[in-house]
Amino acid sequence: MAKLVILYGTGTGHTGEMAELIGDGAMSEGIETTVVLLGNVTEDVPGGGRITSVDDALTIMNSADAVAIGSSTYNMKPVVFVQQLMDRAKSLDLSGKVGTAFGSYQSPPQSCRAHHRRHEGDGH
Ligand SMILES: Cc1cc2nc3c(=O)[nH]c(=O)nc-3n(C[C@H](O)[C@H](O)[C@H](O)COP(=O)(O)O)c2cc1C
Repeated sequence: MAKLVILYGTGTGHTGEMAELIGDGAMSEGIETTVVLLGNVTEDVPGGGRITSVDDALTIMNSADAVAIGSSTYNMKPVVFVQQLMDRAKSLDLSGKVGTAFGSYQSPPQSCRAHHRRHEGDGH
């Protein structure tokens, strides 16, 4: 079965809601799906949920067939853990994987252009 991993960073939860909805849609299509909230370490969060370090997220990403990366935008930048993931993913062999991106923004056109410029030439 195809494996999808949805990795995201959020400040106040909007991008997490998107990630969960995308995950629900994929699972309803029979796709094995893992939703991963990026953080500085891998640990359970008091009160529920779990965060995953960028190191561990890269391992999960490497073993997936399809990767969706989500971030919100703060001061025209992605969430720091998402930026770290994108930077470090350059060292992975992503050939053959399907990839997509999503995000939550206040001003989508400017934010999308800023993200696109940041990753132009990265092969993402
Ligand atoms: C301090 C601050 C800075 C923000 N900067 C931007 C920005 O530069 N561009 C933008 O489109 N949205 C910006 N936003 C809006 C957030 O990206 C938006 O509220 C988003 O839904 C937050 O998603 P999250 O809950 O997943 O973090 C900013 C919000 C705050 C509070």
